[in-house]
Amino acid sequence: MSFFEYRHGELFAEQVSLSSIAEQYGTPCFVYSRRAFETKWQALDEAFGDHPHTICYAVKANSNIAVLNLLARLGSGFDIVSEGELRRVLKAGGDPSKVVFSGVAKSKSELAFALSNKVRSINIESVAELERVQEVAQTLGVTASIAFRVNPDVDPETHPYISTGMDKAKFGVTMEAAFDAYVRAAQMPNIEVHGIACHIGSQITKTSPFSDALEIVLNMVKRLAAEGIEIKQLDLGGGLGIDYQGETPPSANEYVQSMINGIKAHGVDLPIAIEPGRYISGNSGVMLTKVEFTKHNASKNFAIVDAGMNDLLRPALYQAFHKIVPINEKTTADTATYDVVGPVCESACVLGYDRDLAVEAGDLLAVMSAGAYSFVMANNYNSRRRPAEVMVDGDSTHLIRQRENFEQLVAGETLLPE
Ligand code: LLP
Repeated sequence: MSFFEYRHGELFAEQVSLSSIAEQYGTPCFVYSRRAFETKWQALDEAFGDHPHTICYAVKANSNIAVLNLLARLGSGFDIVSEGELRRVLKAGGDPSKVVFSGVAKSKSELAFALSNKVRSINIESVAELERVQEVAQTLGVTASIAFRVNPDVDPETHPYISTGMDKAKFGVTMEAAFDAYVRAAQMPNIEVHGIACHIGSQITKTSPFSDALEIVLNMVKRLAAEGIEIKQLDLGGGLGIDYQGETPPSANEYVQSMINGIKAHGVDLPIAIEPGRYISGNSGVMLTKVEFTKHNASKNFAIVDAGMNDLLRPALYQAFHKIVPINEKTTADTATYDVVGPVCESACVLGYDRDLAVEAGDLLAVMSAGAYSFVMANNYNSRRRPAEVMVDGDSTHLIRQRENFEQLVAGETLLPE
């Protein structure tokens, strides 16, 4: 079910027309649907039934504090990768005892902040990091609850930039090193082994890579148990894909059931944590943009819009496909094939190639599936101000982030003295 639908030829978010949002808040602008976020989160939650679980929403996918707050109200946990993300979670009312902290390069001060806030698990990605966690915990006089993020060397069959669980990736501890790392951790005075974690990649559209990784993780759990090292939580990461372009990823039920079946088949009845980002947020938002000009060369038509690669980086960085649709459907205008390009002075500033559209200057377009890894990756290249973010809730709209202003753009910069 989509919360972005046409009504009488006009695209709506829930009960609000997107053209009215563009008029009120300007473009470019990200628009989210509250019900979309909630529905996705609840689908995962319900799929677990009464199996003990924690949904640790991956903050990196969309970290607006209004989004985090909505999910916290549902009882969500969070997967964080920086002190900044933990501060956002706390500001949004999230419960640190449901937070897992991933990332390959956590600094000492970030670890100290996380330990002081008693997060559920520091997901350690190297033996060197284990030593650092022990040292920071000792200094603070606390015990760090940890998991190792293992790297099962499974191909998630997704874009190479978002594949994280293969041996050539920088992420996680290899399976060969993991056993010894657990044995070492179990001997450390300020470390308590809590779980095992695994995240193999993102935008995964079938269950088999997840099942393959789970199999490897469960074998490790059993090996550790035989050594007297008890794992209390399986953190199976994020990665469930969404429909950008007609993909048919597993449903929440299929995804969760494959995990539960996998652990039952091994006789391992452990609580499960997952770290979904894109599944919850990806199709919960769109980006609105306005056509500034059209331009027609001998071999190309361009729709030049007011949003660029600084606002939505995914097409330029990953050759990612986002549907681009008119906010007001037209029946009369001529359809032509356009490259939808932005204002940034880079040839890569393209939102979509070869799109069949009937557009003219002044028209509004919606770039779909822009709720995940979109605003969070926006930047100020070409001294462009980052867009506004708006949350639709039924028939009301809430500005959840103002468009940046010029003072904010140069805040922190100073001139040299005379
Ligand atoms: N857990 C860990 C440790 C992760 O590294 C990630 C994503 C997630 C969970 C959430 O994965 P998800 O459920 O969203 O697939 N910027 C890229 C995606 C990068 C993903 C990085 N890690 C994109 O726009 O496609």
